[in-house]
Formats: sequence, structure tokens, C-alpha cells
Amino acid sequence: MIIIILVKRIVRHIFILPILLIALVLTKITEYVYVSQLLSLIPFKTGIILRNYFYRLTLKKCGKGVVVNFGTIISYKESRIGNNVWLGVNNVFGRVDILDNVITAQGCQFASGKKGHGIERVDIPIVQQPGEKTTLIIGPDVWFGANCTTIANVGEGCVIGSGTVVVKDIPDWSIAVGNPAKIIKKRK
Ligand SMILES: CC(C)(COP(=O)(O)OP(=O)(O)OC[C@H]1O[C@@H](n2cnc3c(N)ncnc32)[C@H](O)[C@@H]1OP(=O)(O)O)[C@@H](O)C(=O)NCCC(=O)NCCS
Repeated sequence: MIIIILVKRIVRHIFILPILLIALVLTKITEYVYVSQLLSLIPFKTGIILRNYFYRLTLKKCGKGVVVNFGTIISYKESRIGNNVWLGVNNVFGRVDILDNVITAQGCQFASGKKGHGIERVDIPIVQQPGEKTTLIIGPDVWFGANCTTIANVGEGCVIGSGTVVVKDIPDWSIAVGNPAKIIKKRK
């Protein structure tokens, strides 16, 4: 039994290490987000282990026990992720600081704040106006249900219901649901 586990690990790492090296080189010659997109497509536990190594080596901070599931993209290497964070399938993260013990279900989106593009001027197209990227802060022990969209900060211990759109900061220990998010309960 132990031998089978050992062989499995060795085979897995024979696959992982060259891809990890290529990914690390790619971060020097192309945009970080493209490398994240590429690695998001590797399936099975092998993909999870590979992404764990990659983000621990490249993000500003990436704690222990971080699981980044299939199809999930972390766009900025300036982001920080705490310990025991579970990022579900098909999530997209802009600039974020995610504290410990956060769970996101499938299909969640996190923007780099509200002002990704400037909209003040009307004489030039929005695409040509510089935006202002801010870092979202997601407090510890937060659970995001499926398909949430988050463009504001979320406090400690919150539950964000499935399909919720967070447009204003959510205070600690809130249960918030809907579009726009409304607090329906407090956990304490
Ligand atoms: C947020 C959540 C935890 C709340 O559960 P709960 O405390 O049992 O809430 P209730 O079922 O008592 O609902 C309370 C009210 O909020 C509403 N509500 C609950 N979840 C909602 C949601 N996601 N969006 C909009 N309204 C919601 C209910 O309709 C109810 O409204 P009412 O009082 O007008 O009837 C749960 O509804 C949820 O969204 N869980 C996420 C599930 C998920 O996405 N899982 C993915 C795998 S991890």
C-alpha cells in the first residue's frame, strides 16, 4: 500500500515539476494572468497540487492548505491568500486579499474594486480611460455560495448566499443574500 502511494506521488511529480518550471519561466516573459489561465486547465488532484506549488511560489502570500480548483484564475500576483482556503471551480479573482479559512463555491467572481475602467469622460471611449484597481479584502471564515459576484469587501465570519452580488462592504458575521446584497441575519 505504502509503495503504491509512493509510486503514485513520484509519477505525479514527474508530470508536475517540468510544467511548474515552464510556468515559472512563463511568468517572466508573459502576463501572470495568462499563466494562471493555462494552469487552471489541468484537471485531477495533479492540477490542484501543481497550482498549490505555483501560487505558493509566485503570489505575494499563499498559505498552507490552499486548494485552487479547476478553471479558477488568480489574475494578479500581488494577491494574498491565507491558510486553509478553498477556491471552488470556475472562479475568477482580480486583486484580492483572502484571509484564512475562506470557501468559495463554483462560479464566483471577484473584481479589483468598482472602478476597473474610468467612466468620467464622455469624449473618449471607456476602454481608453484609465481605471483604478483596488484590492478586495475578504475576511477570515467566510463562505461564498455558488455564482456570487463581489466588488466590495466582506468582513469576518460572513455567509454570502448563492447568486449574491456584493456591491457594498459587508460587516463581520453577516449572512447576506440577493442583488444587491442585503443582510438577512447575523451569526453573532
Ligand atoms: C445564504 C444561505 C446559507 C442562507 O440559508 P438560511 O439561513 O437557511 O436561509 P433561509 O433559507 O432561512 O432564508 C432566509 C431568507 O433569505 C432568502 N434567501 C436565502 N438564500 C438566498 C439566496 N441565495 N438568494 C436570495 N435570497 C435568499 C430566503 O428566500 C428567505 O427569504 P424570506 O425570509 O423572504 O422567505 C443559503 O440560502 C445559501 O445561499 N447557501 C449557499 C448554497 C450554495 O451555493 N452551495 C454551493 C456549494 S458550497
